[in-house]
Amino acid sequence: MAQEAVLVELTGIYKEYDREVLQVDSLVLKKGLIYGIIGPSGAGKTTLLRIINLLTPPSSGTYHFKGKPLPGNGRERLALQRSMALVFQKTLLFRDSVWNNVAYGLRARKYSPAEIDRRVGQLLEQLGMADLAHRRADTLSGGEAQRVAIARAVAFDPELLLLDEPTANLDPGNVEVIEEMIRKMSRAGSMTVVMVTHNVFQARRIADEVIFIDDGKVVEMGPAKKIFSKAEHEKTRLYVEGRMIY
Ligand SMILES: Nc1ncnc2c1ncn2[C@@H]1O[C@H](COP(=O)(O)OP(=O)(O)OP(=O)(O)O)[C@@H](O)[C@H]1O
Ligand SMILES: [Mg+2]
Repeated sequence: MAQEAVLVELTGIYKEYDREVLQVDSLVLKKGLIYGIIGPSGAGKTTLLRIINLLTPPSSGTYHFKGKPLPGNGRERLALQRSMALVFQKTLLFRDSVWNNVAYGLRARKYSPAEIDRRVGQLLEQLGMADLAHRRADTLSGGEAQRVAIARAVAFDPELLLLDEPTANLDPGNVEVIEEMIRKMSRAGSMTVVMVTHNVFQARRIADEVIFIDDGKVVEMGPAKKIFSKAEHEKTRLYVEGRMIY
């Protein structure tokens, strides 16, 4: 079944800076699912996301994408990186129109002008942002800017969408709009989504699978239903119930 195909597989991933910050024995991300990564501040969530996105090289360990080891060749590695999109909590949009911001990744990937017009138009329409198309990005509210950042990230149909606390600092209305956007895009295709969030309720609302990280380690990973109702580990239970002291 296509749903079950493995997209990313990490084995024995270890990362140290001046000390060990991440140690993941095994992590498998399947195609088409939405993953929520939760865990306390400093647990290693962003580091894990950056390793998955090939922005940060692990100190050791192996990484497979669709069953193949990472290419050693820089050009092939860039091509692989370009099949993924990463959205941060603090959006960096270009001081240009919304339209050009969304078109950016398509231009970088050498899509034809006609195809760019078609895709940007369709995407803005789909996401209810057609009215913002000609606004300058630096005049947008925080919530609008984050919607544009996500639209820009998905415009080229990435296989993997990585989101690092994309709704932190947004009001509940905007959080809801963005969660709905993510669900809609996930349902529309085979894109895999990995979303880091501090908010366990958000993970519960949106994720199929939840990964709980504490102190650099995956404490527990499983279907959202299970993690929130009958987690196996005491630490997971305490964290999702908001009772973890740290
Ligand atoms: N470039 C770096 N150099 C040194 N230490 C780093 C670097 N990046 C991250 N760290 C350390 O690695 C640990 C994990 O950081 P990371 O940013 O992955 O945590 P996080 O779970 O995303 O936290 P938060 O919820 O606060 O964003 C932290 O102790 C952090 O200080
Ligand atoms: Mg972080």
